[in-house]
Amino acid sequence: MDSLTSDPFVAKRAAGYKAAEMVKDGMVLGLGTGSTVMYTMERLSQRIHDGLTISGIPTSFQTAMRAREYNIPLTTLDDHPVIDLAIDGADEVDPQLRLIKGRGAAHTREKCVAAAAKQFIVVVDEQKMVTCLDGLVPVEIIPFAIRPVMDQLTAMGCIPVLREGMKKDGPVITDNMNFIIDAKFKKITNPEKLEAVIGLIPGVVESGLFCGFTHKTTVIVGGKKSCRVIP
Ligand code: A5P
Repeated sequence: MDSLTSDPFVAKRAAGYKAAEMVKDGMVLGLGTGSTVMYTMERLSQRIHDGLTISGIPTSFQTAMRAREYNIPLTTLDDHPVIDLAIDGADEVDPQLRLIKGRGAAHTREKCVAAAAKQFIVVVDEQKMVTCLDGLVPVEIIPFAIRPVMDQLTAMGCIPVLREGMKKDGPVITDNMNFIIDAKFKKITNPEKLEAVIGLIPGVVESGLFCGFTHKTTVIVGGKKSCRVIP
């Protein structure tokens, strides 16, 4: 089967496109990272061609490069510390709309942009919807502190693994020149507490737990024929 017509891709495109339809003229947008948001940018590009005026703050080199290909004007958090709307993907979404992000190692900038946004739209396919956050928690850390951070994460009861590069020997280096540890917890019973506790470890930049944005979050779950919008 052609991967671009398989269910996850159809669902991601449906969710990504629906988010792009919710963008209003004149908005400053946070542009997340990952395959689903690429569809949002594809549709935004078409709308810009038809006269929509927006600008976007990219959360990664990948997103910035794609935005330029799509003629999406770019700006920065320096120029727009408060933005209208951020649109991003996620790896897991629980019933309270808490998220795990960071499969692509972009979660630090994604969290900055989500925090700056008045509204946050999360675009996913059905596979990302979980009853309890249960996956790996990506944690960005400064390389200087890898050993003590690994030790403290281990003491918290998880198995921390330094993320290795693909087609590159050694660790993944993030867009912020840091390392990523994937911390596998048996079960996450209190995501807010876990996010706060990980954030207090010296050397940690950000974890991929996103628990603080539920009040302004809308989740678009793409399907084969239509999308579900929560709430
Ligand atoms: C980037 O680091 C991640 O947070 C992505 O936003 C997340 O993994 C979703 O990616 P997909 O849309 O490719 O599934």
